[in-house]
Amino acid sequence: MLSKILIKNIKELLLVEQPGSEKKRVEGAEMKQMETIKNAWLAIEGDKIVGFGSMNEWEGITNWNDLQVIDAEGRIVFPAFCDSHSHIVYHGNREGEFVDRINGFTYAQIAQKGGGIINSVLKLREASEDELYEQALGRAKEVMAMGTGALEIKSGYGLNLESEMKMLRVIKRLKKNTPLTIKSNLLAAHALPPEYLNNREGYLTLIIDKIIPAVAKEGLADFIDVFCEAGYFTNEDTDRILRAGSKHGLRAKFHVNQFTKSGGIKVGIRRNALSVDHLEVLADKEIKALIGKETMATILPSCSFFLGIPYSPARKMIDSGLGVALASDYNPGSTPSGNMSFVMALACIKLKMTPNEAYNAACLNGAYAMNLSHELGSIAIGKKANVVITKRIPSYSYIPYSFGSNHIHQVILNGQVV
Ligand code: NIG
Ligand code: FE
Repeated sequence: MLSKILIKNIKELLLVEQPGSEKKRVEGAEMKQMETIKNAWLAIEGDKIVGFGSMNEWEGITNWNDLQVIDAEGRIVFPAFCDSHSHIVYHGNREGEFVDRINGFTYAQIAQKGGGIINSVLKLREASEDELYEQALGRAKEVMAMGTGALEIKSGYGLNLESEMKMLRVIKRLKKNTPLTIKSNLLAAHALPPEYLNNREGYLTLIIDKIIPAVAKEGLADFIDVFCEAGYFTNEDTDRILRAGSKHGLRAKFHVNQFTKSGGIKVGIRRNALSVDHLEVLADKEIKALIGKETMATILPSCSFFLGIPYSPARKMIDSGLGVALASDYNPGSTPSGNMSFVMALACIKLKMTPNEAYNAACLNGAYAMNLSHELGSIAIGKKANVVITKRIPSYSYIPYSFGSNHIHQVILNGQVV
């Protein structure tokens, strides 16, 4: 028999979509809108949302037997965060580079000294799958407790067939063993591995002829990623790899415009990427080019905060009519944090997004950027019951306002209290 939960006395239920009004994503001025119900109830059956409404209009629920009732006692409820960009499978940390940066070295200089991504690659190649799994599981549990219900996780610290597969198998185990909804992204083109430093064509051939087919054959990835950036992979490399991925059913979802305007956005549009991510530097014509396209613009303000690089021009993007998704980028080098409440705080404080825009970006648009908005990202009948119950806070704007504190009381994923 399906379990049944009724959450009653909700101070305010956020990101509600009435039957028939469900959207795939929100863009431009729509992002400022968010339907909410004050003094609400929410009903869950099995892993699905089956009803919601105002406590004043109480229907359909009274005759349920075996009902678990959660009295929210005036707490706020919102759909669990959909964090569409992370690298949580890694071995060991890089706080040494953090200190180097404090002492004046840049991310690029640290990479040139053999640090950066390659530092994590050397560590990961040494680790067993079980060791990696244990560390990644710890991070998965950490982000769930902070309100994340869906997570995209990338490979990209293996950079050879064996170690990329090892990472992707860890992601597969996380999919199976945690209540998170997980999508995996093959990022073999994260950097040139040391053994191919003078043979980029050789590495591209390895990715296209060996890694992509092997990963696709085992069904280990949903998406294909590339670090399209000066010093990493060119637009031409990116186009080749995305095309090869697409031939194996992997939709493009990739890193671009983090440090330089390479022109890679055009490649993303041409390849009908599901998302282009980072966008710390973005030309007006690139904003224009993205409007109306299926490609979501995903921004990662914790990365800007941590590295001290520019923040994405979110205000300009949204005011131009674009939709944006917010994600954490949780990784050991540029964002050692998966705290989506903090991501929303930065979006409001640094990017001048309103709290409504931040919730829309971190929930519904994040779900869209993982191809999950039909089942996650809002409170709608038939969607997966992934919800967060906050502590007793005065309003939903309080979460991004009162940054740095934990305002999450309880997390329900797939209809089960985590
Ligand atoms: O998204 N920019 C590329 N990749 C990661 C950082 C990787 C690392 O430094 O380990 C990012 O910021
Ligand atoms: Fe990233």
